Amino acid sequence: MIVIREKSAFLIYPNSFLNSLLMCGIVGYTGPREAYPIVINGLKRLEYRGYDSTGVALLNGGLKVYKKKGRVADLENFIIGENLHSNIGIGHTRWATHGEPNDRNAHPHTSASGKLAMIHNGIIENYAQIKKELLNKGYHFTSDTDTEVLLNFIEDIKNNNECNLEEAVRVALKRITGAYCILLIDEDTPDTIIAARKGSPLVIGVGKGEHFLGSDATPMLEYTKEVVYVNDYELAIVKPDELILKNLGNEKITPFVTKLDMELAAIEKGGYDHFMLKEIFEQPSTIYDCLRGRLDAAAGQIKMSGVDNNIEAFKNASRIIIVACGTSWHAGLVAEYVIEELCRIPVEVEYASEFRYRNPIINKGDIILAISQSGETADTLVAIENAKKQGAIIFGIVNVVGSSIARMSDGGAYTHAGPEIGVASTKAFTGQLAVLMMMALQIGKVRGTITNKLFSQLLFELDAVPEKVEALLKNADQLKMIAEKYKDATDALFLGRGYNFPIALEGALKLKEISYIHAEGYPAAEMKHGPIALVTEILPVVFVATKDSYHEKIISNMQEIKARRGKVIAIITEGDEVTPTLADDVFFVPPAHEIMAPLLSCVPLQLLSYYMGVAKGVDVDKPRNLAKSVTVE
Ligand code: F6R
Repeated sequence: MIVIREKSAFLIYPNSFLNSLLMCGIVGYTGPREAYPIVINGLKRLEYRGYDSTGVALLNGGLKVYKKKGRVADLENFIIGENLHSNIGIGHTRWATHGEPNDRNAHPHTSASGKLAMIHNGIIENYAQIKKELLNKGYHFTSDTDTEVLLNFIEDIKNNNECNLEEAVRVALKRITGAYCILLIDEDTPDTIIAARKGSPLVIGVGKGEHFLGSDATPMLEYTKEVVYVNDYELAIVKPDELILKNLGNEKITPFVTKLDMELAAIEKGGYDHFMLKEIFEQPSTIYDCLRGRLDAAAGQIKMSGVDNNIEAFKNASRIIIVACGTSWHAGLVAEYVIEELCRIPVEVEYASEFRYRNPIINKGDIILAISQSGETADTLVAIENAKKQGAIIFGIVNVVGSSIARMSDGGAYTHAGPEIGVASTKAFTGQLAVLMMMALQIGKVRGTITNKLFSQLLFELDAVPEKVEALLKNADQLKMIAEKYKDATDALFLGRGYNFPIALEGALKLKEISYIHAEGYPAAEMKHGPIALVTEILPVVFVATKDSYHEKIISNMQEIKARRGKVIAIITEGDEVTPTLADDVFFVPPAHEIMAPLLSCVPLQLLSYYMGVAKGVDVDKPRNLAKSVTVE
């Protein structure tokens, strides 16, 4: 039996403790179509998860494995002219942790008999012990990976116990520690993929007489909207017309089918040169989508069901602890300023990677906000799992529907930014800010810490954000010119105050990852305590200096930079006549209440980084060493 769930929400599922996970993308197909094009196109969509090496395994008169260091396009070139006919296939795109990225370590791996092929996303922690046992039995290994060890372990069990592959996988998984999502194919059962997960995501798309598998739903979007999110410790036997889910105790589990609310166009470039640019330009509509159905400025209302369901907890919260990484952490920092201002609840913002390893004090009544685009970031996941054990309420702010953090949270709100493919986060960030603004307003209202007048004013301000972002995007070319002018800089400084201080941090992070220019973000006044030593006539200093209550102060900071001949690029508010006399280059954003300013001022900084990266010839959608979902600690 299959149960259809109409809309995926923040439901609580059993979930496991996650250790360090290997990031990678996995795809599979079994059915009447040609498997190779489905698998290879699926891998292209999952390249954001890693792009060190790529491989596919097909069954075409026997097992055929093709793999190569490099990107999916390198593999495609490598296998031109091969007979790739097969109605079953698995594919993998790797982000290397153990074992350097090379052809040998690329997945799929093949078992000693040459009959089984397997791909794996995860880390087998006790692989060394198992490898030793297999070496003693005479096995040889061709790669440095834990994956090849697990595969041969499975084959060894299959041979010795004279059991089928499914049984052998189950026995093997009970012995191993660590994390995995695995897909296996076997020459002896040529229509079946065996899959299992613990810790790494796995989605199975249900078609008519066919099934698709992926690390997320994007590889299967054009074929089916019905998917099953596989849970930890579940094993799937996937045939063209049958999907059997079992737990590791061999008991059948009813698969829940979720209907996807996502269109194919959302994961294609749509005429833009890069996903990052497309995603920056999508922000008027993604922010609108985030507000839609939740914010009604005319009626003076915000309705977020996730907040409503936990309203007593928020009303009485003694503290909010925000845990996140990277750009999501910057959104958390904006939230600290806004929530303390509007709700008068003390807020702490923690790097998830630090929070999880120290011994934080978590009191009854504390609420943890976990912010994550992917919903799969390992440090954030473990941080909330630890906090949950100590009794904290977990509220997730997540973009990817059905992701692990969404599933582990007690309640939450989706950012509704749609799939974010560019490795640098842009539209997910503004989605996070929009959700956090709404939450602060809703909670402030319930707590009585915001006046009716300010509440109403901010509702209208927030409502107007999509339109204002659209207006400022019309001047994107100005940033392209500024980027051209400064593209040869080796360093840059980003300065902001108050609500714009986290935006300075975010601007610096974006520039680093997309253009490889070293950049630092600082509170503008703090600059005098060190970074000012860096100022020379070639250092670009980006001021996020929109009109707010600190405006005069930041003007003074700008003068301090000018006095030392630094180059000033200023993001300022339309109508500001003073700043242009001090700055070398300016970009105007529409006027807004200072609380809403981050939603506008971050956008020109995204564009500036994008154009700098492009001007420097960087592959901005896949900058070196990075991956979209950081599922390693
Ligand atoms: C930067 C960026 C990263 C992520 C970070 C957290 O552009 O994308 O810093 O923000 O890896 O990822 P999520 O939000 O998926 O938890």
